[in-house]
Amino acid sequence: IKKIGVFTSGGDSPGMNAAIRSVVRTCAYLNVECVGIYWGYQGMIKGDFKLMNARSVHNIINKGGTILKTARCEEFRTKEGRKKAYDQLQAAGIDAFVVIGGDGSFTGAMIFNQEFGFPVIGIPGTIDNDIFGTTFTLGFDTALNTVVEAIDKIRDTASSHNRLFFVEVMGRDVGHIALNAGVGAGAEEILIPEENLGRERLLESLKRSRSSGKSSSIVIVAEGDKTGKNIFELKEYVEANFPDYEVRVSVLGHMQRGGAPSCYDRVLASRMGVRAVEALLEGKTNLMVGVQDNQLILTPINKAIKGHTKIDKELIRVSEIMST
Ligand code: F6P
Repeated sequence: IKKIGVFTSGGDSPGMNAAIRSVVRTCAYLNVECVGIYWGYQGMIKGDFKLMNARSVHNIINKGGTILKTARCEEFRTKEGRKKAYDQLQAAGIDAFVVIGGDGSFTGAMIFNQEFGFPVIGIPGTIDNDIFGTTFTLGFDTALNTVVEAIDKIRDTASSHNRLFFVEVMGRDVGHIALNAGVGAGAEEILIPEENLGRERLLESLKRSRSSGKSSSIVIVAEGDKTGKNIFELKEYVEANFPDYEVRVSVLGHMQRGGAPSCYDRVLASRMGVRAVEALLEGKTNLMVGVQDNQLILTPINKAIKGHTKIDKELIRVSEIMST
């Protein structure tokens, strides 16, 4: 392998730049050429490539977003689209690629590998932490810190007005952000898709905590949670059935995807980038780099995308005890 392509794909996450930097610098260190592919699979189809060297990635370890841009690409889902991408890679002499992204990006890479025998390695980059084969995806830790900081601020105003706040956090159809940030921010209730206990139970619990002396409450709602039709309907339900509280809703939204990556995400990205390039040079393919027990491991991409990570039951128990 003489020339490796690197790109980011799908939703961005803090730490992607640190991973790009690591892949580029590892290639420079090992005397392999490295090409940045802009706009994910879309740019691959168009041949939007740029040769990179160690200096191309200076001062980006601390930046959120991705200097290579990112996109979700419909055309790459088609055989014709993938053939165009393959021809562009061939024309540019790119032998292998490292894809930094989530579920959808890995599925594309796996199919591409099966069709053309093209070597691919994945680095998990998503705030949702919904990839099997790694305890942490890049951006998850940063997003948790962002959410906790935001909830701390919401709590100030919630307690000043004796209000109940519903705070919606991202995570697509899993509750990792909600559960971890909820425990970290001391939320009274955490609603996640993995555990729908119903809105009556929520009401009972809010009443109980009110009568135990709590004057304000924070309820974290994962965006995929189905306790209510949506967070606003949940607000109306609680207002109608428990008028003691003034209720407000705060949807944190895309601010959770931005900001400087945490030190943990930067270190993890640096480690994963090195391992990804090394794996390609060892002749490995169709694998994702993950971390477990602080060791880097390689998992077949088809396993990484199929098995959703399990929600941490112990953490659910802790959150229940803490909200007594
Ligand atoms: O996968 C990351 C994520 O931020 C999810 O948490 C969220 O559901 C989705 O992407 C939002 O996607 P978009 O940026 O396209 O609105």
